[in-house]
Amino acid sequence: MRFFEGCTALVTGASSGLGSEFARQLAPLASCIVLVARRNDRLEELAASLHKLHPHLDLRIITTDLSIYDQRCALVDWLADEQIHVDFLVNNAGLGDHGDFASSDWNRIQSMLDVNIHSVTHLTHSLIGGMIVKGRAAILNVSSVAGFFPIPHMAVYAATKAYVTSFSEALGIELRPLGITVTALCPGPVPTEFFETASRPGDEDHKNHFRPPPAFSVSAAEAVKTGLLAVSNDRRRVVPNHLLALTTALALALPFFLLRRILTAKSASF
Ligand SMILES: NC(=O)c1ccc[n+]([C@@H]2O[C@H](COP(=O)([O-])OP(=O)(O)OC[C@H]3O[C@@H](n4cnc5c(N)ncnc54)[C@H](OP(=O)(O)O)[C@@H]3O)[C@@H](O)[C@H]2O)c1
Repeated sequence: MRFFEGCTALVTGASSGLGSEFARQLAPLASCIVLVARRNDRLEELAASLHKLHPHLDLRIITTDLSIYDQRCALVDWLADEQIHVDFLVNNAGLGDHGDFASSDWNRIQSMLDVNIHSVTHLTHSLIGGMIVKGRAAILNVSSVAGFFPIPHMAVYAATKAYVTSFSEALGIELRPLGITVTALCPGPVPTEFFETASRPGDEDHKNHFRPPPAFSVSAAEAVKTGLLAVSNDRRRVVPNHLLALTTALALALPFFLLRRILTAKSASF
């Protein structure tokens, strides 16, 4: 993956799951990686383990709550002060919420909108100018296969990921002539802390209810590898599981009224 050699990457949500894995897989290639999330102890731990393996890698930690506008601005200002010119932006941080919309907690919905949509859009907008000046850069937005469908009991999450995929596709067309590739990584289930975070208090059983079949699952390592390969091959979107990619393509080929019936039947079983 020569594309990433010597790059300066910024990975959001690097404190766990896919984000930590992005940092691990980029570490042998990148010259600088900026790790962003709220849990500083996790970022410190990751940085220490990566530093042991790659002593020459410039690793930076910046503890940021991406749901907060001022903190995102502070992150961008800090990058400018430190003269860190990001040429690979990984908008990975994200969260879900499983359950009926009517009984959802507004603060959680607000965080989902802020992290999954506003942060992705704001960071991209803030860093794009520097990328255009460089003339060679990449953006990888971690979306989800959930973004292809309206998913009852994950209505807002699926809608935020539909935004991420659509935004990535349109931006990819705008930016390609300027030497910037934009890729949406659309995984199905990946065993991370995601499902635990998406479960509501006292809703333990739901953890298993909304997981698609295990055959659609991939490890974090596989999902990240597929995402990075897709970036280096200038692919606009990728689903990191062949069976899931095929099933998704078939489902999307269905007339919408039929898809709606399937989603309604599935919804009744939750
Ligand atoms: N796991 C799956 O099945 C799956 C499937 C499809 C797509 N995805 C997407 O993959 C991405 C990564 O998720 P994951 O599976 O790795 O889940 P995860 O292990 O729960 O990681 C989520 C990351 O997002 C960060 N984050 C959440 N809220 C944040 C905030 N307000 N400010 C800064 N960082 C925040 C978390 O860091 P802190 O808590 O330390 O802030 C954490 O590092 C997400 O966009 C998710 O939607 C996951």
